[in-house]
Amino acid sequence: MNLDDVYQELLLDHYKSPRCHGVLLNPDGKVDLHNPLCGDQISLTIKFAQDEISNIAFTGHGCSISQAAASMMSELLRGKTKQEAQRLSLLFRQMIRSEVEGDALLDLGDAVALEGVKKHSARIKCALLAWDCVDRVLGDPDGGRSLRNEIPS
Ligand code: FES
Repeated sequence: MNLDDVYQELLLDHYKSPRCHGVLLNPDGKVDLHNPLCGDQISLTIKFAQDEISNIAFTGHGCSISQAAASMMSELLRGKTKQEAQRLSLLFRQMIRSEVEGDALLDLGDAVALEGVKKHSARIKCALLAWDCVDRVLGDPDGGRSLRNEIPS
């Protein structure tokens, strides 16, 4: 089994058994975004305890990449500080733009399985939909760049 197979299995696992799936009651942040090209959609709810993301959950529908990306991202960000979550969002975007490779991506956890999406420009919006939601809540970590590319709801 090569690395691509492992990544494919991880993607399917998150798609079929999404982590952090649901809606939080009385969230501190809530964002709904959809991709107008296909109608796929993510709703994200977040709770904070001081500076930490104490809980995060999503619902949505759409392609395996958009839904698996939301699961991977939510699992990764639960328990992180807002600042760390912004750093990870930027790192994910840098991976998709081929600006960072190799061991530097280890902090992305399972989300590194989406690195191959960078070769398929039509799927990049799928991988970024959930991260665009979190940037809406936390503020753009990319100096305005990611929100300019964001899919309007
Ligand atoms: Fe719609 Fe992937 S095809 S978000």
